[in-house]
Amino acid sequence: IEKTFIMIKPDAVRDRKIGEIVARIERSGLVIERMEMTTLERATVEEHYAHLADKPFFGGLCDFMTSGPVVKMVVSGLSAVAKMRTLMGATNPLDAAPGTIRGDFAVDVNANVIHGSDCLENAEIEIKRFFG
Ligand code: GTP
Ligand code: MG
Repeated sequence: IEKTFIMIKPDAVRDRKIGEIVARIERSGLVIERMEMTTLERATVEEHYAHLADKPFFGGLCDFMTSGPVVKMVVSGLSAVAKMRTLMGATNPLDAAPGTIRGDFAVDVNANVIHGSDCLENAEIEIKRFFG
């Protein structure tokens, strides 16, 4: 059983998609172990996206991620990390398949609805970062 860190981003909260996204996660057989709505500190977002600090979109990404509340979660189950990445779809919504969360709800790579850890090691780090 793995645990992964998931975040419904501010665009999806604003667009009232929390329920539909949570329903998809539960329907997949994964279990939501923790869930909380919160507005992120900029320093936390900068740390979370530190691997992108030299990208031209980094400032805008941090603005976006602090622009309103997010819903952060710990999700568990068999292969939870990979299963959530499949459920989410590609980073760029233009490449995300229909039926995936990003494919169905996101239109823009700057605001792509959901975050999910990309590997087990990062899942552990992110759960500690966001839930302490
Ligand atoms: P996250 O689950 O949010 O971490 O996305 P990811 O793991 O699929 O992608 P990555 O960690 O590489 O990028 C993090 C976030 O930066 C993405 O979700 C996008 O919002 C943003 N991002 C990544 N690449 C681009 C890009 O080429 N252009 C823009 N504008 N934003 C990008
Ligand atoms: Mg990532």
